[in-house]
Order: sequence, then C-alpha cells, then structure tokens
Amino acid sequence: MSQLKCLVSINVKVRKGFCYEHTRHRKKPPGGSRVLKRNSDIFSFNAWDNVEWDDEQEAAAREAVSKNSSVTLSEDQVNKFENDADKFWDSFYDIHENRFFKDRHWLFTEFPELAPDVKAPERVYSDNTTSAQKPSTPPPPRRIFEPGCGVGNTILPILKYSQDANLKVYGCDFSAKAIDILKEHADFDSKRCEAFVMDATNPVWDVPFEENSIDIIVLIFVLSAIHPDKMKTVAENCYKYLKPGGLVLLRDYGRYDLAQLRFKSGKCLQDNFYVRGDGTRVYFFTQDELKDLFGGVGFQEEQNLVDRRLQVNRGRMLKMYRVWIQTKFRKPNV
Ligand SMILES: C[S@@+](CC[C@H](N)C(=O)[O-])C[C@H]1O[C@@H](n2cnc3c(N)ncnc32)[C@H](O)[C@@H]1O
Repeated sequence: MSQLKCLVSINVKVRKGFCYEHTRHRKKPPGGSRVLKRNSDIFSFNAWDNVEWDDEQEAAAREAVSKNSSVTLSEDQVNKFENDADKFWDSFYDIHENRFFKDRHWLFTEFPELAPDVKAPERVYSDNTTSAQKPSTPPPPRRIFEPGCGVGNTILPILKYSQDANLKVYGCDFSAKAIDILKEHADFDSKRCEAFVMDATNPVWDVPFEENSIDIIVLIFVLSAIHPDKMKTVAENCYKYLKPGGLVLLRDYGRYDLAQLRFKSGKCLQDNFYVRGDGTRVYFFTQDELKDLFGGVGFQEEQNLVDRRLQVNRGRMLKMYRVWIQTKFRKPNV
C-alpha cells in the first residue's frame, strides 16, 4: 500500500460527522509507552504511541491537504456555517443524543490537575497513623470551567472520580440541546456543577463566576470547532477568568490528522478549517499556532506536545495515523 493510501485509508470506525473522539481506553503514562520499533510488528497491536513520521509521509499529507483545500466554499456558505453554528451542533445532538458518551479515564492520565484527589494512595506516617486517620485541613475550593462542554464527556468523569467536596465545575455550550442532555445525566450533580448555554466566542462572557476566580479552564476538542478569527477572543476571556496561576488544559486536533486528510474537496472553509457533512466545523492546529494564540494574550507555556498515534485495524490490515495536540498554558502569578 502506498504511503498516501495508508494515510487516507481511514474508513474504519470513524463516523462521518463524528470523529472528534479520541477513543483511547487503555491506561498509559502521559505521552504513551507502546513504541513501534520494527515495521514488521505493526499488526501485532491495535495502536502505537509516539509514531515518527518520515519526510515522505509528511509530504504525502501535505499533498492530500493541498488537494482537498483547493476548492473553498463561497462567502455566503462560509457565513451560513458561522451564523448558524449553534443550530448545526443542536442538530448533531438531536441525532446522536448522548450515545457517544465516553468514560474518559485517560483524562486524568493526561491532565492529573483535573482531579488531584483521584485514587491518592494512603500515606503511613512515622507515628504509624495513616492519612485516613490524620485530621486534615479541607482543601481550598477548586473551580473548573469547560467552555464547549457538549454532553459532559469531560465534566461527568471529573464529577464522578473527584471526591473533593469543595470542587465546583462549570460548563457551557452554545448548543442548548447539549446542555439539556448533560443536565439529564444520572451523574450530573447540580450541587457541584452548573451548566449553562453560552457562546464562548462572545466578547463578553455572561458567566456565574467572577473574573480571576477559576483554577482550571478545559478546552477539549472545542477550539477546533470555532472560527479561527474568534479564537483570540476565547483565549482572552480564559485569561480574564482564570486566577493568577490558573491553567488552560487543551487537547485538540493536530495538523494532518486522518480526519483532515479524509476531507473531500469542496469542504474547506479556509486554510485547515473544514465543514463536515452535518455542518459542524473543525480546524487542525500546529503547536506553533497554539503557542502564538495563548502566548499572545499573556499565558506561559508549560506543555505543548504532538501526540502522534498509529491506530491499526488488524482484521483489515489498515493503518490510521491520528494527530492530536495537547497543551497546558498558565496565567502568570502576577
Ligand atoms: C467536538 S465537541 C466537544 C465537546 C466536549 N468538549 C467533549 O470533549 O466531549 C465541540 C463542542 O463545542 C461546542 N461549541 C462549538 N462552538 C462553540 C461556541 N462558540 N461556544 C460554545 N460552545 C461551542 C459544540 O456545541 C460542541 O458541543
């Protein structure tokens, strides 16, 4: 199979209009640990971490993108997808409801900051008492906010696995349907979570918390759904509402992910920004773009990595190259 064919042979388990989910279930250390050393081993596991791309593969990806971006949509069509973006996501959730809910255990591997109290091992002190017996001072209240929270693939695991009674989680989405589905979920706890409808690209956020009050803002596969011209407004508002020392945790599509390569011509809105068949949109980032975006509004970069993963369909001998970007940006401590 040619290199290009490998890159685009992606018709497996990646549903049209719903391929944002990173379907990794096994536990692994951050960054991954199963590294492919010999090509002959490819089909002996379902997935490989930290896959290296050679120049030929990079060139084939560039060529595929150049082909599928050569025809762009008219200005009217581009405006329609921007103006009705929330309606397209509403329709998406009307169709899929919460069927794609994923219990994302990997969240806490990649972002342990989200639930520092998860499975903390019991400590035994020198006087033979344990941490369970020691009177402990309650941890300070923690606040997490997820713009574009959808039906709660991130929020619900945080609520479920964190035992911190002082934790408050906020989530917003511009799809009212998504927020309804989230609030109906059995694990939604209205004492510890507030979910509301808001367009995160609004210059002024109408939110139930103060400026400088949030510990962590989570952006999971949401910035890619936003028009590139409006991403800076989102980054600025993240900065405004985070406490000094607060963190933005982001995971999203990387440039040349298979989802980008599989777009047909006529779906490109502008460079690296596409519309799916269901009207929802997706951008594919480079590390430098995210560094410039968040660095440009005052954040300090703490992590900025590309997660290149090779998923394998052993039955059909297909190779699928996924590319995700994961970043952590901190608001300086004054
Ligand atoms: C790919 S989904 C990810 C949902 C969720 N973060 C997750 O990880 O499952 C993108 C979500 O962003 C929401 N979204 C897109 N643009 C938005 C905007 N401008 N304001 C608020 N939500 C937005 C969509 O409605 C959708 O729920």
